[in-house]
Amino acid sequence: MKFFIDTANLDQIKEAQDLGVLDGVTTNPSLMAKEGITGKENIIAHYKKICEIVDGDVSAEVISTDFDGIIKEGEELAKLHDQIVVKVPMIKEGIKAIKYFSDKGIRTNCTLVFTAGQALLAAKAGATYVSPFIGRLDDISTDGLNLIADIRLIYDNYGFETQILAASVRHSMHILECAKIGADVMTGPLSSITSLLNHPLTDSGLEKFLADYKKGN
Ligand code: E4P
Repeated sequence: MKFFIDTANLDQIKEAQDLGVLDGVTTNPSLMAKEGITGKENIIAHYKKICEIVDGDVSAEVISTDFDGIIKEGEELAKLHDQIVVKVPMIKEGIKAIKYFSDKGIRTNCTLVFTAGQALLAAKAGATYVSPFIGRLDDISTDGLNLIADIRLIYDNYGFETQILAASVRHSMHILECAKIGADVMTGPLSSITSLLNHPLTDSGLEKFLADYKKGN
């Protein structure tokens, strides 16, 4: 299972990269705005910085919602760095653009996916990644993990190569459940990754080992 971090915060990206388990980064316009990164030039410069830190795929989202606009923006983004994956919204024009990009060898991440039908369309269009937002489904009392399981079943039935990128992950249990179901990738905040480290028996066990070592020295 690949681990992506879902942020535009360079310090957090560095911290996750230093941990040695990071496979990529996902961003979106809200995450960019949260870091105060606004305006096309600043956003492009920020993508370049992220690519320098991380050894893996970096999703860069288009803002256009019409076919020609998505193509123009996506081609510009893809040219920035070979790690860039063009993130395209799950809309009619987006699906047409994903098919276009797929035929041109440009990698895509189909975002804002909330149903298995949408994921099926994205795979048929040739998306590299599909991003079902599990946390946002949980927020409206719908089981996000069920969606991951349905997409896994459908993709396996037909051998689709589109990778299931479980997005909107909120905590370590989401990561574990996605791993059990067989999601190819998860993207979440740094805290969801680092909380995998934690167990009180690890802490108390280590404390005892170190105390016992000190007794003999
Ligand atoms: C996915 O690529 C999105 O950036 C993301 O995971 C959204 O998550 P949120 O629901 O926490 O905003």
